[in-house]
Amino acid sequence: AGLKRVLGSFDLTMLGIGAIIGTGIFVLTGTAAAGTDGRLGAGPGIVLSFAVTAVACGFAALCYAEFASMIPVSGSAYTYAYASFGELMAWIIGWDLVLEYAVGNVAIAIGWSGYFLTLLEYFHVPIPAWLCVDPMSYQHIMGVLAGGDATAIGKLNQDLVELVQAASKTAPRIGSWAICINLPAMLIVLAITALLYRGIKDSARVNTVFVFIKFAMIALFLYVGIQHVDFEKHWTPFMPNGWNGVMTGAAVIFFAYIGFDSISTAAEEAKSPQRTLPIAIIGSLAVCTLLYVLVATVLTGMVPINVLATKEPVADALKSVGANGIASVISLGAVFSIASVLLVMQLGQTRVFFAMSRDGLLPSIMSRVHPRFGSPHMSTVFTGLIVSLFAGFIDINVAADLCNIGTLFAFILVAIGIMILRVRSPETHRGFRTPLVWVSAPLCVVTCAALMYYLSMATWIRFGVWLVLGLVVYFLYGIHHSRIGKEVKPASE
Ligand code: ALA
Repeated sequence: AGLKRVLGSFDLTMLGIGAIIGTGIFVLTGTAAAGTDGRLGAGPGIVLSFAVTAVACGFAALCYAEFASMIPVSGSAYTYAYASFGELMAWIIGWDLVLEYAVGNVAIAIGWSGYFLTLLEYFHVPIPAWLCVDPMSYQHIMGVLAGGDATAIGKLNQDLVELVQAASKTAPRIGSWAICINLPAMLIVLAITALLYRGIKDSARVNTVFVFIKFAMIALFLYVGIQHVDFEKHWTPFMPNGWNGVMTGAAVIFFAYIGFDSISTAAEEAKSPQRTLPIAIIGSLAVCTLLYVLVATVLTGMVPINVLATKEPVADALKSVGANGIASVISLGAVFSIASVLLVMQLGQTRVFFAMSRDGLLPSIMSRVHPRFGSPHMSTVFTGLIVSLFAGFIDINVAADLCNIGTLFAFILVAIGIMILRVRSPETHRGFRTPLVWVSAPLCVVTCAALMYYLSMATWIRFGVWLVLGLVVYFLYGIHHSRIGKEVKPASE
């Protein structure tokens, strides 16, 4: 049995917005503006970072829209790479998409757990600190604290420092090793997995409800925040670290925009995909760009930048202007908002695995479809278990940066792929054509490459290691099992 075509433009746009607005705006905006963890902060210039990133994503969205209208198949960039570059490149991009969706979801689950803990605190529900922090952050922060360098300590995320200090007192130990784990992050991934198992229609319905909660929260934040904006006081200096700070901020908050492309993974569950996918991809990005610029303007205008260097900067900004009640409402809303990102990104990963398995590059069990729910249930369970496991043990910044570099790489290949197919198959029907493709696609490549350049060396090394690992897997497995010669044909409406 195949996947079910049940989603219209509205559902798809909601899926896009569901995937876009989440950890990026609710968590990373603050840290990117303030510049925690040794990064250059953008300061209020984060507003410009949002604009720069919107341009890069806008070009990418146009390219994705053309591909989605031409090849409406589940695998998104993986499938597009198959059509434009051939199998090896398709495998590389499929493997790379794991960074976007699965590793991205690790970061998102951790971001979710930050807001969830604030909520628990608000309702006085106790939970041991060692069950709320990953061992990577724990080791890093304990190391910096032990080093005693006041500047380095000052640059740490202060919420996390408190959590780690509390954990170090209560954590069970094996020898000198303190055991700690981010349990809420693990559990939310499992809950999302259960929902996805039940199929796309239920998942899309829940997502739409979450998206409306998201809109309400942002409107509430803007309404309250705007009353406390004082640009003269908080916007000087506007760019404390100059353009370097703004571009570093842009590379970090690129994460906030990721998601519009994930709509294309639902291509085989979309009605009239050649028309509905481009509308949803471009529409969801446009709505979110507008909201982001507004939120960043108000957030940086209402408090001094250092207030934002926390795990839940939007709520903390409200608290610092005395709006504690509203801050709690926002935390509650963020919990739903971020959950919908998890949902759609997880959906993306399962569909990419589904497509890769159908082509023989992954074991066939990953493309089995549940007879009743119509979901690729085996790849859903597999993805859920892996993401959940890593969410318990990894630092949010490591995961978010890896997701960024992986996604930027995918965007670049999609832009190049579009140009290749314009030359190679000019006559193939396209429901949507990227306007000024010879300008838009190269600009997509250049802007995405510029953002990649601003990511840290450690991220580049991890990315390189991941790609090499992917090649090893391909030459050990994929190359022997692929259905060679299989041509990706544009599906008809
Ligand atoms: N754009 C998504 C988020 O910010 C990944 O959570």
